[in-house]
Amino acid sequence: MVVVRYKKELQDTLKIYRSGRQKIGFVPTMGALHQGHLSLVERALAENAVTVVSIFVNPTQFDNPLDLEKYPENLEKDVLLLEELSTSIIVFAPSPSEIYNGNIVARSYDFNGLETVMEGAYRAGHFDGVATVVELLFSAVAPHTAYFGEKDFQQLQIIRKLTALQELPITIIGCPIEREFNGLARSSRNERLSKPTRENAGFIYAVLLTARKKFGTENALLIKDWVTSSFADNPLFELEYFEMVNEETLVPLAEKKENIKYRAFIAVYAEGIRLIDNIALN
Ligand code: PAJ
Repeated sequence: MVVVRYKKELQDTLKIYRSGRQKIGFVPTMGALHQGHLSLVERALAENAVTVVSIFVNPTQFDNPLDLEKYPENLEKDVLLLEELSTSIIVFAPSPSEIYNGNIVARSYDFNGLETVMEGAYRAGHFDGVATVVELLFSAVAPHTAYFGEKDFQQLQIIRKLTALQELPITIIGCPIEREFNGLARSSRNERLSKPTRENAGFIYAVLLTARKKFGTENALLIKDWVTSSFADNPLFELEYFEMVNEETLVPLAEKKENIKYRAFIAVYAEGIRLIDNIALN
């Protein structure tokens, strides 16, 4: 297993693959790896000659300083988990100043409204930070293909837009959400939940499944009301938003149209910890 800290070192390590025209796969992460991340890495390993996994807790995408401070970091453990999958993975773990060329600030982007709804509305500046670091990482790794989870579906659509706007020769692959046994979407934040709350957090996915079922017969307003009242009745979870939107544009559903894919998105607080999830409705 190779762990590199510098862009130059990374580029030297990748040279042999690039000159042999071999495929380079890339999985960007913030570490604290779990099965959600590992499913992306497995897909990348299956489809490329070499896979780069970046581990970098990006300071510019945290709107809440406490969240950044509490973000779990354990590079050694992450490397061991990756080693179990393949010893040929290249781990790229740069410092903030290395990846940001000494200037740790986010650029400002216009993604045609994708960045202003849902996560964008509740987490000021978040997607500017994500897009900035992904652009910098893409330029450092220059992969053929990059893998992102549908767990962060809005992020996935924004990265697709970023890649199109910048005309980057990188294929973006979206990968399905990995869940715990009760349906809770896997996240490093789940570790911070108490055992009983974590056990009960399958409730969030259960609500999404029922919303999907209702989607066949009920209108959006009725479904939203049902979700709101389900959360009002459950003291463990506080609903921040529930939206049903066009999957491509992320514009809220007004009237169902043929041949449009819709998806429901949810953000919930449990014990002060923010959890997100989403589900395809049709
Ligand atoms: P992070 O939260 O570490 O997630 C890294 C990748 O793993 C993202 O593409 C995310 O969607 C995916 N992922 C996380 N949990 C998952 C799950 N339960 N199932 C499937 N995929 C899952 O997302 C980020 O980091 C950052 O914003 C990043 C893109 C690295 C930029 O800093």
